[in-house]
Amino acid sequence: MAVGGGLALYHVLGVATCVALLYFSFGQVDLRHISLPSLPASAASASGSSLSAAASRAAALPFVERRGAQLFLDGRPFYVNGWNSYWLMDNAVEPSSRDRVSRMFRTGAEMGLTVCRSWAFNDGAYNALQVSPGHFDERVFKALDRVLVEAARHGVRLILSLANNLEHYGGKTQYVRWAWEEGVGLSASNDSFFFDPAIRDYFKVYLKTLLTRKNHLTGMEYRDDPTILAWELMNEPRCTTDPSGDTLQRWIEEMAAYVKSFDKKHLLTVGTEGFYGPTSPQRKMTVNPGSWDDSNFGSDFIRNAKIPDIDFASIHLYPDTWLQHKNATVDEKLKFVKRWVASHIEDGDKELGKPVLTTEFGLSQRVKGFRHSQRDVFYKAVYDTVYRSAVRGGAGAGAFVWQLAVEGMEEYHDDFSVVPSQHPSLDKLIKTQSCRLAKLRRGVGEEGKRALSVCAAAAS
Ligand SMILES: *[C@@H]1O[C@H](CO)[C@@H](O)[C@H](O)[C@H]1NC(C)=O
Ligand SMILES: *[C@@H]1O[C@H](CO)[C@@H](O)[C@H](O)[C@H]1NC(C)=O
Repeated sequence: MAVGGGLALYHVLGVATCVALLYFSFGQVDLRHISLPSLPASAASASGSSLSAAASRAAALPFVERRGAQLFLDGRPFYVNGWNSYWLMDNAVEPSSRDRVSRMFRTGAEMGLTVCRSWAFNDGAYNALQVSPGHFDERVFKALDRVLVEAARHGVRLILSLANNLEHYGGKTQYVRWAWEEGVGLSASNDSFFFDPAIRDYFKVYLKTLLTRKNHLTGMEYRDDPTILAWELMNEPRCTTDPSGDTLQRWIEEMAAYVKSFDKKHLLTVGTEGFYGPTSPQRKMTVNPGSWDDSNFGSDFIRNAKIPDIDFASIHLYPDTWLQHKNATVDEKLKFVKRWVASHIEDGDKELGKPVLTTEFGLSQRVKGFRHSQRDVFYKAVYDTVYRSAVRGGAGAGAFVWQLAVEGMEEYHDDFSVVPSQHPSLDKLIKTQSCRLAKLRRGVGEEGKRALSVCAAAAS
């Protein structure tokens, strides 16, 4: 999320719930053959089962893998309905806020959501995981341990992001500041994060520490934990000082190889927003948002995603901010949304042979003229594009709404946050997507039971 601070004190949800009278054409779902990919855990047992039981269950789980342009789990294609909650580790530190984490996983699981994307970094900020280069706060590491266990317990997997391009929770600015404080910094530019050898070494120390962290609850190293679906090198990497894309490309290559030298079990992605760059075909450059044609922010979507150590590509999607300079109408934004997602899925199918995940999409509730019903239409456009790809076995592997929260945590909201129970039409739309993606999997047993319940919830 590139807009505002995640900590903006903004009570977006103080209004009465809006029920949009929209009819969605998801079609009939045959409940006999569907299943949700899940870990063998049940939300109901959350308070009863012991942590060690959760640990042994997690240890026996299969990893999500990539086969060509599809994700696979348990020998069957795996299409993700997912969500973002960046704040999990932060809230798992203090006992007073910990229940938000389990409530969020329970809510997600009940909506049939199978993967959550969250931050596994906090560099030098309040409740920092990395207090200074190579120094970690055990209290915060224990919080991250808890997040992993809670996820597994609720049948949810995680995409964990490892650094921030933005200043929120430290980010590359903090790394650059550390290098200056230690007298080793090459440049004051925030982009020196990508090219300064001392800073690259800092980041590698962090990567190694995280990957080899032994969870105090399960005894399992993070690199061995199948609860993690993937590592993401950085949230929305941009290196505007080098529009050729070479600096960012070299950083990705180096860090991806480093991660893989410790961890070959997990999938790895970059965390890109999806901007096309200099090596993209000209017709793809016109897909970039408006006057940003000439500004790719130092990224180069196809080139970045082609790196062999990168297992899948990611895109983000913020039509409000991205098309602001054009005063885009609702229709123009919707057209952009469909084109953006479809274009990158096409890249996954034809250019990359890798899955493409829409790891963030959101519509700002603060933009003038915002209507809940429009947001439903926007979400549905993203979901439909992913679903059409999934039906034909394509590279569109899933989408993650930015972002979900639970009641009573307004200080973590931003312009995009949604508490599902307060928005019934959106809640139902998300469940319907979970249900129809689960239907494609045709699983059995525990998975099947969970699928039945989410499809029933979506249909009610
Ligand atoms: C680096 O980023 C921070 C946060 O966005 C900003 O305040 C600062 O001015 C930037 N530094 C430079 C040298 O551009
Ligand atoms: C967008 O709207 C603003 C305010 O109405 C106006 O000043 C600006 O010229 C418009 N921009 C475009 C590209 O139409």
